[in-house]
Amino acid sequence: MKLGSMRSFLGATAIAVAGLVVVAVGSRVPAEASAQGGAPTAAPAAAPPGVPLTDDVFKTVVLLKGIPVDTFFESMGMFANAMGNDCTFCHASKAYFDKRAFADPTPRLQRARQMIVMMNTINRQFFGGQPRVTCFTCHQGSDRPVSDPNIMLQYATPVEDPNIRDIPVDTRLKADEIFDKFIQAIGGKERLSKFTSFTAKGTYAGFDTSFDKVPMELYVKAPGQSAMIVHFFNGDSYRVYNGTNAWMAGPDTPLPLLTLTAGNLDRVRLEAMAPFGVGLRTTFPQWRVGRTAINDKEVIVVQGLQNNRVLANFYFDETGLLVRINRWTETPVGFVPTQINFEDYRDVQGVKIPFKKTVSQTYMQMVVELTNVQPNTNIPDSRFAQPSPGKPADGRAG
Ligand code: HEC
Ligand code: HEC
Repeated sequence: MKLGSMRSFLGATAIAVAGLVVVAVGSRVPAEASAQGGAPTAAPAAAPPGVPLTDDVFKTVVLLKGIPVDTFFESMGMFANAMGNDCTFCHASKAYFDKRAFADPTPRLQRARQMIVMMNTINRQFFGGQPRVTCFTCHQGSDRPVSDPNIMLQYATPVEDPNIRDIPVDTRLKADEIFDKFIQAIGGKERLSKFTSFTAKGTYAGFDTSFDKVPMELYVKAPGQSAMIVHFFNGDSYRVYNGTNAWMAGPDTPLPLLTLTAGNLDRVRLEAMAPFGVGLRTTFPQWRVGRTAINDKEVIVVQGLQNNRVLANFYFDETGLLVRINRWTETPVGFVPTQINFEDYRDVQGVKIPFKKTVSQTYMQMVVELTNVQPNTNIPDSRFAQPSPGKPADGRAG
């Protein structure tokens, strides 16, 4: 896909995600497996209490029941990505203007439901319930999966994808040594021990701003708390991680208060901890290391595992700096990645901080650039408190 079409594809998706109708947030319906093979094969971890589930929020969901709203959007992102199209490939095109139209039963939406049932049946019958076959396995960014062998592919030089979860392991490399080198590269233990917080001003640009830059403030505290306030044209948006819980609230969020769960929650934890270096190696119980390349430059990949499943890739360049994190969220339709690229490391009182960060999801992308970084400021705990629910944007019925 060309960049232009990719942009409009993702842009349209982001517009569709922001400002959805909240139908009813009431008592939670037990997450019950739906009939006839619709049950997810690999159920993601249970949501923390009080987090609205799909059943509470969406009227017409019959298969993707009982999952948190953020995980639901990761699943929708998987669909859009697998189709190589935006949300309205399946949903009625008027959903951009009237979010209630997401519930319209279009023929493709019905077809997609059949595909979920088919996928779950394959995984259950032939892969022991593991999410081995997903929409992407067949579709690979196209509504018409290719079935015929490809002679060109057979004779061309293989292209290595650095972003996969099964990177070849190099047992000679030790995760501890890579983390030590990283700590050294960003300033060393001694300086990092005296670096306990920072605040920054800067800009935010995303598909939700059509990539116009809007002002942003950032507050980050060791070992890992963060709050970003984005000043959108139509109001302020809060993205807060208090060290345990994370929320988003603003005119851009699908719910007035979106609570992050599972992989999304863990991703903001990793982002908050990364600048302080030392804590990073405690973020997963198991590690393994491999090699790959990003833009033809060799990188070392340290993979974080839990229960023998790779959940995160950390990429370090030859100088030891962290240049990328991929964190996967387990959804009922497979593992869905979020990618964070770190660039433009600059010295702040002897500690190197990335001044540019790009976060890419299957339904959203944003670029955050820092200016005026102030180290060791006294940030009150109230900065990291749960934000109050955002005001609905135009078009999101309250
Ligand atoms: C491949 C088809 C497909 C694509 C692409 C797709 N969806 Fe869906 N969507 C579905 C299906 C199927 C359901 C119903 C799921 C169920 O019944 O469990 C659904 C349900 C929904 C609902 C719930 C509607 C309601 O109120 O009951 C919302 C909201 C939604 N999708 C948003 C999105 C967004 C946003 C995107 C783009 C990121 C997207 N969808 C992309 C197939 C798709
Ligand atoms: C085992 C392979 C396989 C898997 C897995 C799979 N699909 Fe499909 N899908 C197909 C094939 C083959 C077609 C028919 C395409 C054609 O008509 O040429 C199709 C068609 C579709 C269509 C209709 C496209 C159109 O042109 O109208 C939708 C929508 C769709 N799939 C969604 C999904 C979703 C969502 C998932 C994951 C839940 C999924 N598929 C998983 C193989 C698969």
